[in-house]
Amino acid sequence: MAAGRSRVRGALWLAGLGLCASGVVLTIVVLARAYHREPPARGGRGLWARSEQARRLQPTFSPEERQELKELLQGAIRLQTVSFAPDDQNVTALAEFEPYIRKAFPAVFSAAFIQHEVIGEYSHLFSIKGSNPQLQPYMLIAHIDVVPASPEGWDVNDPFSAEERDGFIYGRGTLDNKNSVMGILQALEFLLRRNYRPQRSFYIGLGHDEEVGGKNGAKKIVAELESRGVQLSFLLDEGSFIYEGIITGIEKPVALIGITEKGAITANFTVKLAPGHSSAPPKRTSIGILSEALAKLEQNPMPNLFGHGPEIIMFEQLAPEFSFPLNIIMANLWLFGPLVGRFLERQPATNALVRTTTAITMFHAGVKSNVIPPSANATVNFRIHSAQTVDQVLEIIDETIDDKRVEIETGDAFDPLPISPWDDQTFGVQVFRQAILDVFPDVGSTAPGICVGNTDSRHYGSLTDAIYRFNPVIFGASDLPRFHGLNERISIEGYERQVKFLFELIQNSDFHQPVEPHIKLHEL
Ligand SMILES: *[C@@H]1O[C@H](CO)[C@@H](O)[C@H](O)[C@H]1NC(C)=O
Ligand SMILES: *[C@@H]1O[C@H](CO)[C@@H](O)[C@H](O)[C@H]1NC(C)=O
Ligand SMILES: *[C@@H]1O[C@H](CO)[C@@H](O)[C@H](O)[C@H]1NC(C)=O
Ligand SMILES: [Zn+2]
Repeated sequence: MAAGRSRVRGALWLAGLGLCASGVVLTIVVLARAYHREPPARGGRGLWARSEQARRLQPTFSPEERQELKELLQGAIRLQTVSFAPDDQNVTALAEFEPYIRKAFPAVFSAAFIQHEVIGEYSHLFSIKGSNPQLQPYMLIAHIDVVPASPEGWDVNDPFSAEERDGFIYGRGTLDNKNSVMGILQALEFLLRRNYRPQRSFYIGLGHDEEVGGKNGAKKIVAELESRGVQLSFLLDEGSFIYEGIITGIEKPVALIGITEKGAITANFTVKLAPGHSSAPPKRTSIGILSEALAKLEQNPMPNLFGHGPEIIMFEQLAPEFSFPLNIIMANLWLFGPLVGRFLERQPATNALVRTTTAITMFHAGVKSNVIPPSANATVNFRIHSAQTVDQVLEIIDETIDDKRVEIETGDAFDPLPISPWDDQTFGVQVFRQAILDVFPDVGSTAPGICVGNTDSRHYGSLTDAIYRFNPVIFGASDLPRFHGLNERISIEGYERQVKFLFELIQNSDFHQPVEPHIKLHEL
């Protein structure tokens, strides 16, 4: 160990990321000297019996199909399904979406075993009936709405033009999340045209208000499925990506699949005092008292909880991918955990992995330059680490501020999402691993990740405890700022692979009994 440590050159740090709906990113960047080493041995490829393998449809698309899938994605980007605020959406575009997908996916809309329903006016629920009712259904979800985009700063003229440039489609929604909306339906369309009939039933849910909370879309889809008594074997939503070149110290791309999301509290802090003239000021003003309270919150960050949440599983499973000596460090977090935790908190992006974060986002006070303000208020956004609850965080806030003059009012608050099962026996995990092997053979490891933002999937907890968040797209360092930002884009090849991944995933979900222990976790 000591020898290993002495060979670390340069700083080790992990600037984490993992994208979710709200566009927050959690990546792991480890800066250290890259050591070359042999790739880890991979487990067997064949998860499925030979007879089952023989029935599988190959994910090869004709040139016409490849042109078709690209143009259909472009058409979807051009519909400006923007969510401006919870009750302010472009309903014209949302309404145009239904005829658009009807025309784009005729086989999906005409199959006798597929039922399509519009939920909450603009969301869509597809129920695909499998031939074997014994198998528990699963569900794929995505969202139709996008965040706003104005043309300033984009390399293309219009963020809704879906312009093709250098092998990429540019436009709002190309990564978040029309790629999934269209990719899921496209994969199913191609399967149906090849006379595929699923054995296992599944659902497709396309929400229309994910970016503004999901109350009319996802929530209503869930209520509908609850009323039918549906329980799911797993649910797949958007979330993390396949990261390449983002995690320094890891050469190969690695797939991170979100198994939880952080919780959140939005709290308003208010100080009210009698107003007065600035010529005879009181000792303390509302602004002074509130500032002091906020300063205490910033100077006393919530505890570093590295090792108490699922981030530890993520690092342990990625351990073999790291170059020496980081692989040793990551594989021995029982020993190096505190050290790694300290490193992680140095960068904002990885700090978000190890603790409940505190962000003062608004401050209002003062009316006139010579009037003592009667009140001051501020809004603070906390993102709760998996090992804490809303109540625990509120208690710490109270203790930290320790000032009765500061009133606290909490608006939107929810606990971290439950941690989905992650082990070799979990059906969803097996299915994802196999589909990743099939379509992304370069991926070194598939590991669980943590989303620091939130997705529609958080509304689905009553239907399953196996909720996963993953966008099967390779994501590099330059893609980070594009998410909810300028020049959002997807490579045409990347979108084709996403369709292939979904094409394989739907087929993989039919098989219920893997014949051999699937891919072993890499061992050091
Ligand atoms: C709403 O969407 C329609 C159709 O896509 C588009 O023509 C219109 O400009 C959009 N309006 C706004 C305010 O985004
Ligand atoms: C916050 O303070 C501003 C300025 O004093 C005031 O206009 C506003 O009503 C206050 N908001 C709340 C929620 O107290
Ligand atoms: C907190 O303050 C913000 C901004 O002033 C306001 O929009 C929000 O409604 C307030 N929330 C609560 C719970 O008072
Ligand atoms: Zn999203």
